[in-house]
Amino acid sequence: MRSNFVVLISGSGSNLQSLIDASQQDDSSFTIGAVISNVPAAYGLKRAQSANIEAIAIDHKAFPSREAFDQQLVETLKTLNPDGVILAGFMRILTPSFIQAFEDRILNIHPSLLPKYPGLHTHKRALQAGDSEAGCSVHFVTEALDGGPLIAQASVPVERNDTPDTLAARVLTEEHKLYPAVAQWFGEGRLRLRDNVAELDGQPVQL
Ligand code: GRF
Repeated sequence: MRSNFVVLISGSGSNLQSLIDASQQDDSSFTIGAVISNVPAAYGLKRAQSANIEAIAIDHKAFPSREAFDQQLVETLKTLNPDGVILAGFMRILTPSFIQAFEDRILNIHPSLLPKYPGLHTHKRALQAGDSEAGCSVHFVTEALDGGPLIAQASVPVERNDTPDTLAARVLTEEHKLYPAVAQWFGEGRLRLRDNVAELDGQPVQL
């Protein structure tokens, strides 16, 4: 039986597309049961529809508080009963009650070599710091913002004339390879979160 994942997005959904493409391989360990966006106009919802995946908009602006939005999100997810929740450019900070509801089952991709540059504007910050490499990280989501246990990273060189946009594009190419690979491991049941450490095949991940 393939694992059933729900993907949460807010925007273009290029990472979502890479996950959809991977899920459609004959030997994929996972399917995508639904895509949820907090932005109704997000292009990623169209990508889901084109792939015949249920596309759900839950507009955070329609809720009086972060907690109320998250409660709706949790209720919707519970009806979908996913094995895992995959954040792919989901630009909302999740409340502890959301994270507890799906503890150990939420993954995120972040466009930096964590623990460097949690939060926003990662590429600009890497350039300002004069870093010689940049990259992306996939991690389990815990209550620490962009601070959950790391699962995998991919790095790219920073080039002399890079702007935040050129660097972002180079990193994004790696995101599109890394996230589907990690999602396959997750679907195969090879990833676990134990004592706040990610494990792959029973061994602590060391990066
Ligand atoms: C990616 O850079 C991802 O790492 C970050 O948000 C961006 C989403 O891009 N969390 P897309 O919507 O997948 O194209």
